[in-house]
Amino acid sequence: MESLLEVEDLHTQYALDDGLVRAVDGVTLDIRRGEVLAVVGESGCGKSVMARSILRLVDKPGKITGGHIRVHTDDGVVDMANAEGPAIRSVRGKKVAMVFQEPIASMSPVHTLGNQIGESLRLHEMVDKKTARTRAIELLRRVGIPAPERRVDEYPFQMSGGMLQRAMIAMALSCGPDLLIADEPTTALDVTTQAQILELLRELQQDTGMAVMLITHDLGVAAQLADRIAVMYLGAVVETGTTDTVLRHPRHPYTQALLRSVPKLGSASRERLSPVRGMVPSPYQRPPGCTFHPRCDAFMEGRCEVTVPGSVPAPVLVSADKGARTDGTVSCLLYGDEDEGEATR
Ligand SMILES: Nc1ncnc2c1ncn2[C@@H]1O[C@H](COP(=O)(O)OP(=O)(O)OP(=O)(O)O)[C@@H](O)[C@H]1O
Ligand SMILES: [Mg+2]
Repeated sequence: MESLLEVEDLHTQYALDDGLVRAVDGVTLDIRRGEVLAVVGESGCGKSVMARSILRLVDKPGKITGGHIRVHTDDGVVDMANAEGPAIRSVRGKKVAMVFQEPIASMSPVHTLGNQIGESLRLHEMVDKKTARTRAIELLRRVGIPAPERRVDEYPFQMSGGMLQRAMIAMALSCGPDLLIADEPTTALDVTTQAQILELLRELQQDTGMAVMLITHDLGVAAQLADRIAVMYLGAVVETGTTDTVLRHPRHPYTQALLRSVPKLGSASRERLSPVRGMVPSPYQRPPGCTFHPRCDAFMEGRCEVTVPGSVPAPVLVSADKGARTDGTVSCLLYGDEDEGEATR
């Protein structure tokens, strides 16, 4: 499949008074046209900063300090990590759009839905006011908002969380993006509304054929929607693979621990789950070597605290007689020779 987005060794940092936060610390991943990639990982591991970096929406004093974000468009490749204003604006909203976790915080409180959606259309496609309004109503209808002719003139505070999230999605879809980044699009919603929004995203993805980067800490959500999964830990991708492989045959000890922390389908909900041992370290104190080593059940003394594991093709060990096959990548010394990793960072 044709590549749409390639993130390569991306670094995004915040220089704060207390020290340097390496929020994104060497992320490499790719998304092909039309596929759904779920990005999963515990809170604080850099999922949102990575997503905001792709659109160059990192808050100050955050800065992209290295790497590439290549977006393939009909007019060539734009490296968002190194692009300037006009090139950034040719991608943002138009080729790559984003839906945020808190819809209310990302909409203007003083403009109607119609004006906000229309504004985005007028900016990118230079349509007149009347056309923009008609299109806004169509989009609101498309995302399942009842009575869109009336709702188009309402303000965000007049809408429920679920309806607002639908409106945010309508706004993101307004220019027909090739990639929709949805950053925890359902965490602020109740369970029933969550399911509806996910179903809407799935439907829209299938109808339009756009690619989706779905950021979630919920592996169940990833299982439902994603073709592939990328697992992040402390600013880096530690495992990638098709959804089935990552969920059934996780290779990285972190992924294995994450999976032990979610209830199994059909099991009694009171079953005791084991959260990932220990805590995500302070962003100012990154462990040397493999950053996961202080929490890892497979810790190998003398190796893991010394050597940063490189990313290698990940084996799928289904059964001994079927032989080796690989699917995706893994960054763990269990799978790669020490020499393949970088020495230290
Ligand atoms: N504006 C900011 N200023 C300083 N540090 C920041 C800022 N935004 C994020 N960070 C830091 O960057 C790191 C990554 O944060 P990020 O929000 O990307 O995590 P996340 O994986 O999206 O977590 P969550 O699942 O809670 O949304 C964290 O250590 C966070 O404290
Ligand atoms: Mg986040």
